[in-house]
Amino acid sequence: MSGAGPTAGAWIGVALLAVAACATDDGPRSVDHLIPRGFPPMVVPDDNPSTVEGIALGRQLYYDQRLSPQGNRACADCHDQARAFTSPTAPGVLPHINLAWSRNFLWDGRFEGTLDEAMIMEVEEFFVTDVERLKQPDLEAMFAAAFGTPEVTTHRAAYALAQFQRTMVSGDSPFDRYADGELTALGAAERRGLELFYSEQGECFHCHATRLLTDNQFHNIGLDAAVAGTGRGVVTGRALDDGRWKTPTLRNVAMTAPYMHDDRFATLEQVVDFYSDQVVDSPTLSTLVPVGGYRLSADEKADLVAFLRALTDERFLADPALAPPP
Ligand code: HEC
Ligand code: HEC
Repeated sequence: MSGAGPTAGAWIGVALLAVAACATDDGPRSVDHLIPRGFPPMVVPDDNPSTVEGIALGRQLYYDQRLSPQGNRACADCHDQARAFTSPTAPGVLPHINLAWSRNFLWDGRFEGTLDEAMIMEVEEFFVTDVERLKQPDLEAMFAAAFGTPEVTTHRAAYALAQFQRTMVSGDSPFDRYADGELTALGAAERRGLELFYSEQGECFHCHATRLLTDNQFHNIGLDAAVAGTGRGVVTGRALDDGRWKTPTLRNVAMTAPYMHDDRFATLEQVVDFYSDQVVDSPTLSTLVPVGGYRLSADEKADLVAFLRALTDERFLADPALAPPP
C-alpha cells in the first residue's frame, strides 16, 4: 500500500484491526495492506494465502508449548517480541522481522526456500512436533477454522506459522518517517549517521540494502583471519563461501544484542568500533570492507550508532497483534 504516508505504522495497525473485525468472513485475503511504503512486493505462495483464521492459528502455535514433543518449549521462548523476536540469553538467535521477503534462512543459509517451506523445516526437523499433542479440542477448532477440516498435520501447523510470520512486518521507525518526508523525525546526529551509512565512506548500505536493510545475501566482513570451514562454506562446500554469513536486517537492531552470528559484540558501540578499526584480512573478505576498517572518527562513530538506534520500530515491538494470544 503505497499511499500510507508518514504514519504507515498507524495505518497498518488500523488495517489489522479492520481485518480482525471481519473475522467471520472466511476466504483468502491480501496481506498487501501490511507492506510499508518503499518495500518490495511481498510474495505469497498460491497454496498458502493468508486468512484471519490461519494467522490466528499461527499466532497460537508460535506461543504454544504443545508444539514441542515434550510440551515444554515454544518459538517465543527464544523469539521475544520486546527484543524484535530475539533473545538476550539463547545464543545466536536471528530476529523475526520481515522474513516474508527472505529466501535464505539461518546464519549460514542452510535452508533455502519460501518462508512456508522454512516453517515446515522448523516444525518437522527443529521442533520435531508430535501431532498427537496438538490434537486437542481448542486447537482442532482453530485448524478447522483455518483449513476447513479439523485435521491436524505438521504441514498445516507450519503453513499457519508462515501466515503469522508474514504479519511480522516492521517499517515504522524514525528512519522510515524521515525517508517518507517527515524531516524532523531524525535529529542532527542521526542524520549525519544516515549520511555516513549511505556514503561510499561507510558502504553499509550495499549489504544492509533497500528498505529491508538487508540484501539477504552472505558476506565475509572481516571478523576473523581463519575462515576455512566456517559460515556459508560449510553448506555449499565452496572455499569462496568460507567466513560468509547472512546479512542480518538492521531494523530494531538496538533491541537485538548481542551481535553477529556468534554474539561476540555486546553493544552497537563495539560493532561500530569493529567496522572502524578491527577488520582483519582473509581470503574471502568482501571488497566492500577495507582491511583495517573504515577508520571513522569518534564523532562519526557516535553518529552511526545514533542512526542505528533510529531504526527501532516501537509499534512493532509492542503491536498487540503480535503478542501472545489472549
Ligand atoms: C531454543 C531457542 C529457539 C527456539 C525455541 C526457536 N528458535 Fe528460531 N532460531 C533460533 C536460533 C539460535 C536461530 C539462528 C540459528 C542459525 O542461524 O543457525 C533461529 C533462527 C530462526 C529462523 C531463521 C531466521 C533468518 O533470518 O534466517 C526462523 C525462521 C526461526 N528461527 C523460526 C522459529 C520458529 C517458527 C520457532 C518455533 C517453531 C522457533 N524458531 C523456535 C533459536 C530458537
Ligand atoms: C559486505 C557487506 C556488509 C557491509 C559493507 C556492512 N555490513 Fe554489517 N553485516 C554484514 C554481515 C554479513 C553481518 C553478519 C556478520 C556475522 O555475523 O558474521 C553484519 C552485521 C552487522 C551488525 C550486527 C547485526 C546483528 O544483528 O548481529 C551491525 C549492527 C552492522 N552489521 C552494521 C553495519 C554498519 C554500520 C556498516 C557500515 C559501517 C555495515 N554493517 C557494513 C554485512 C555487511
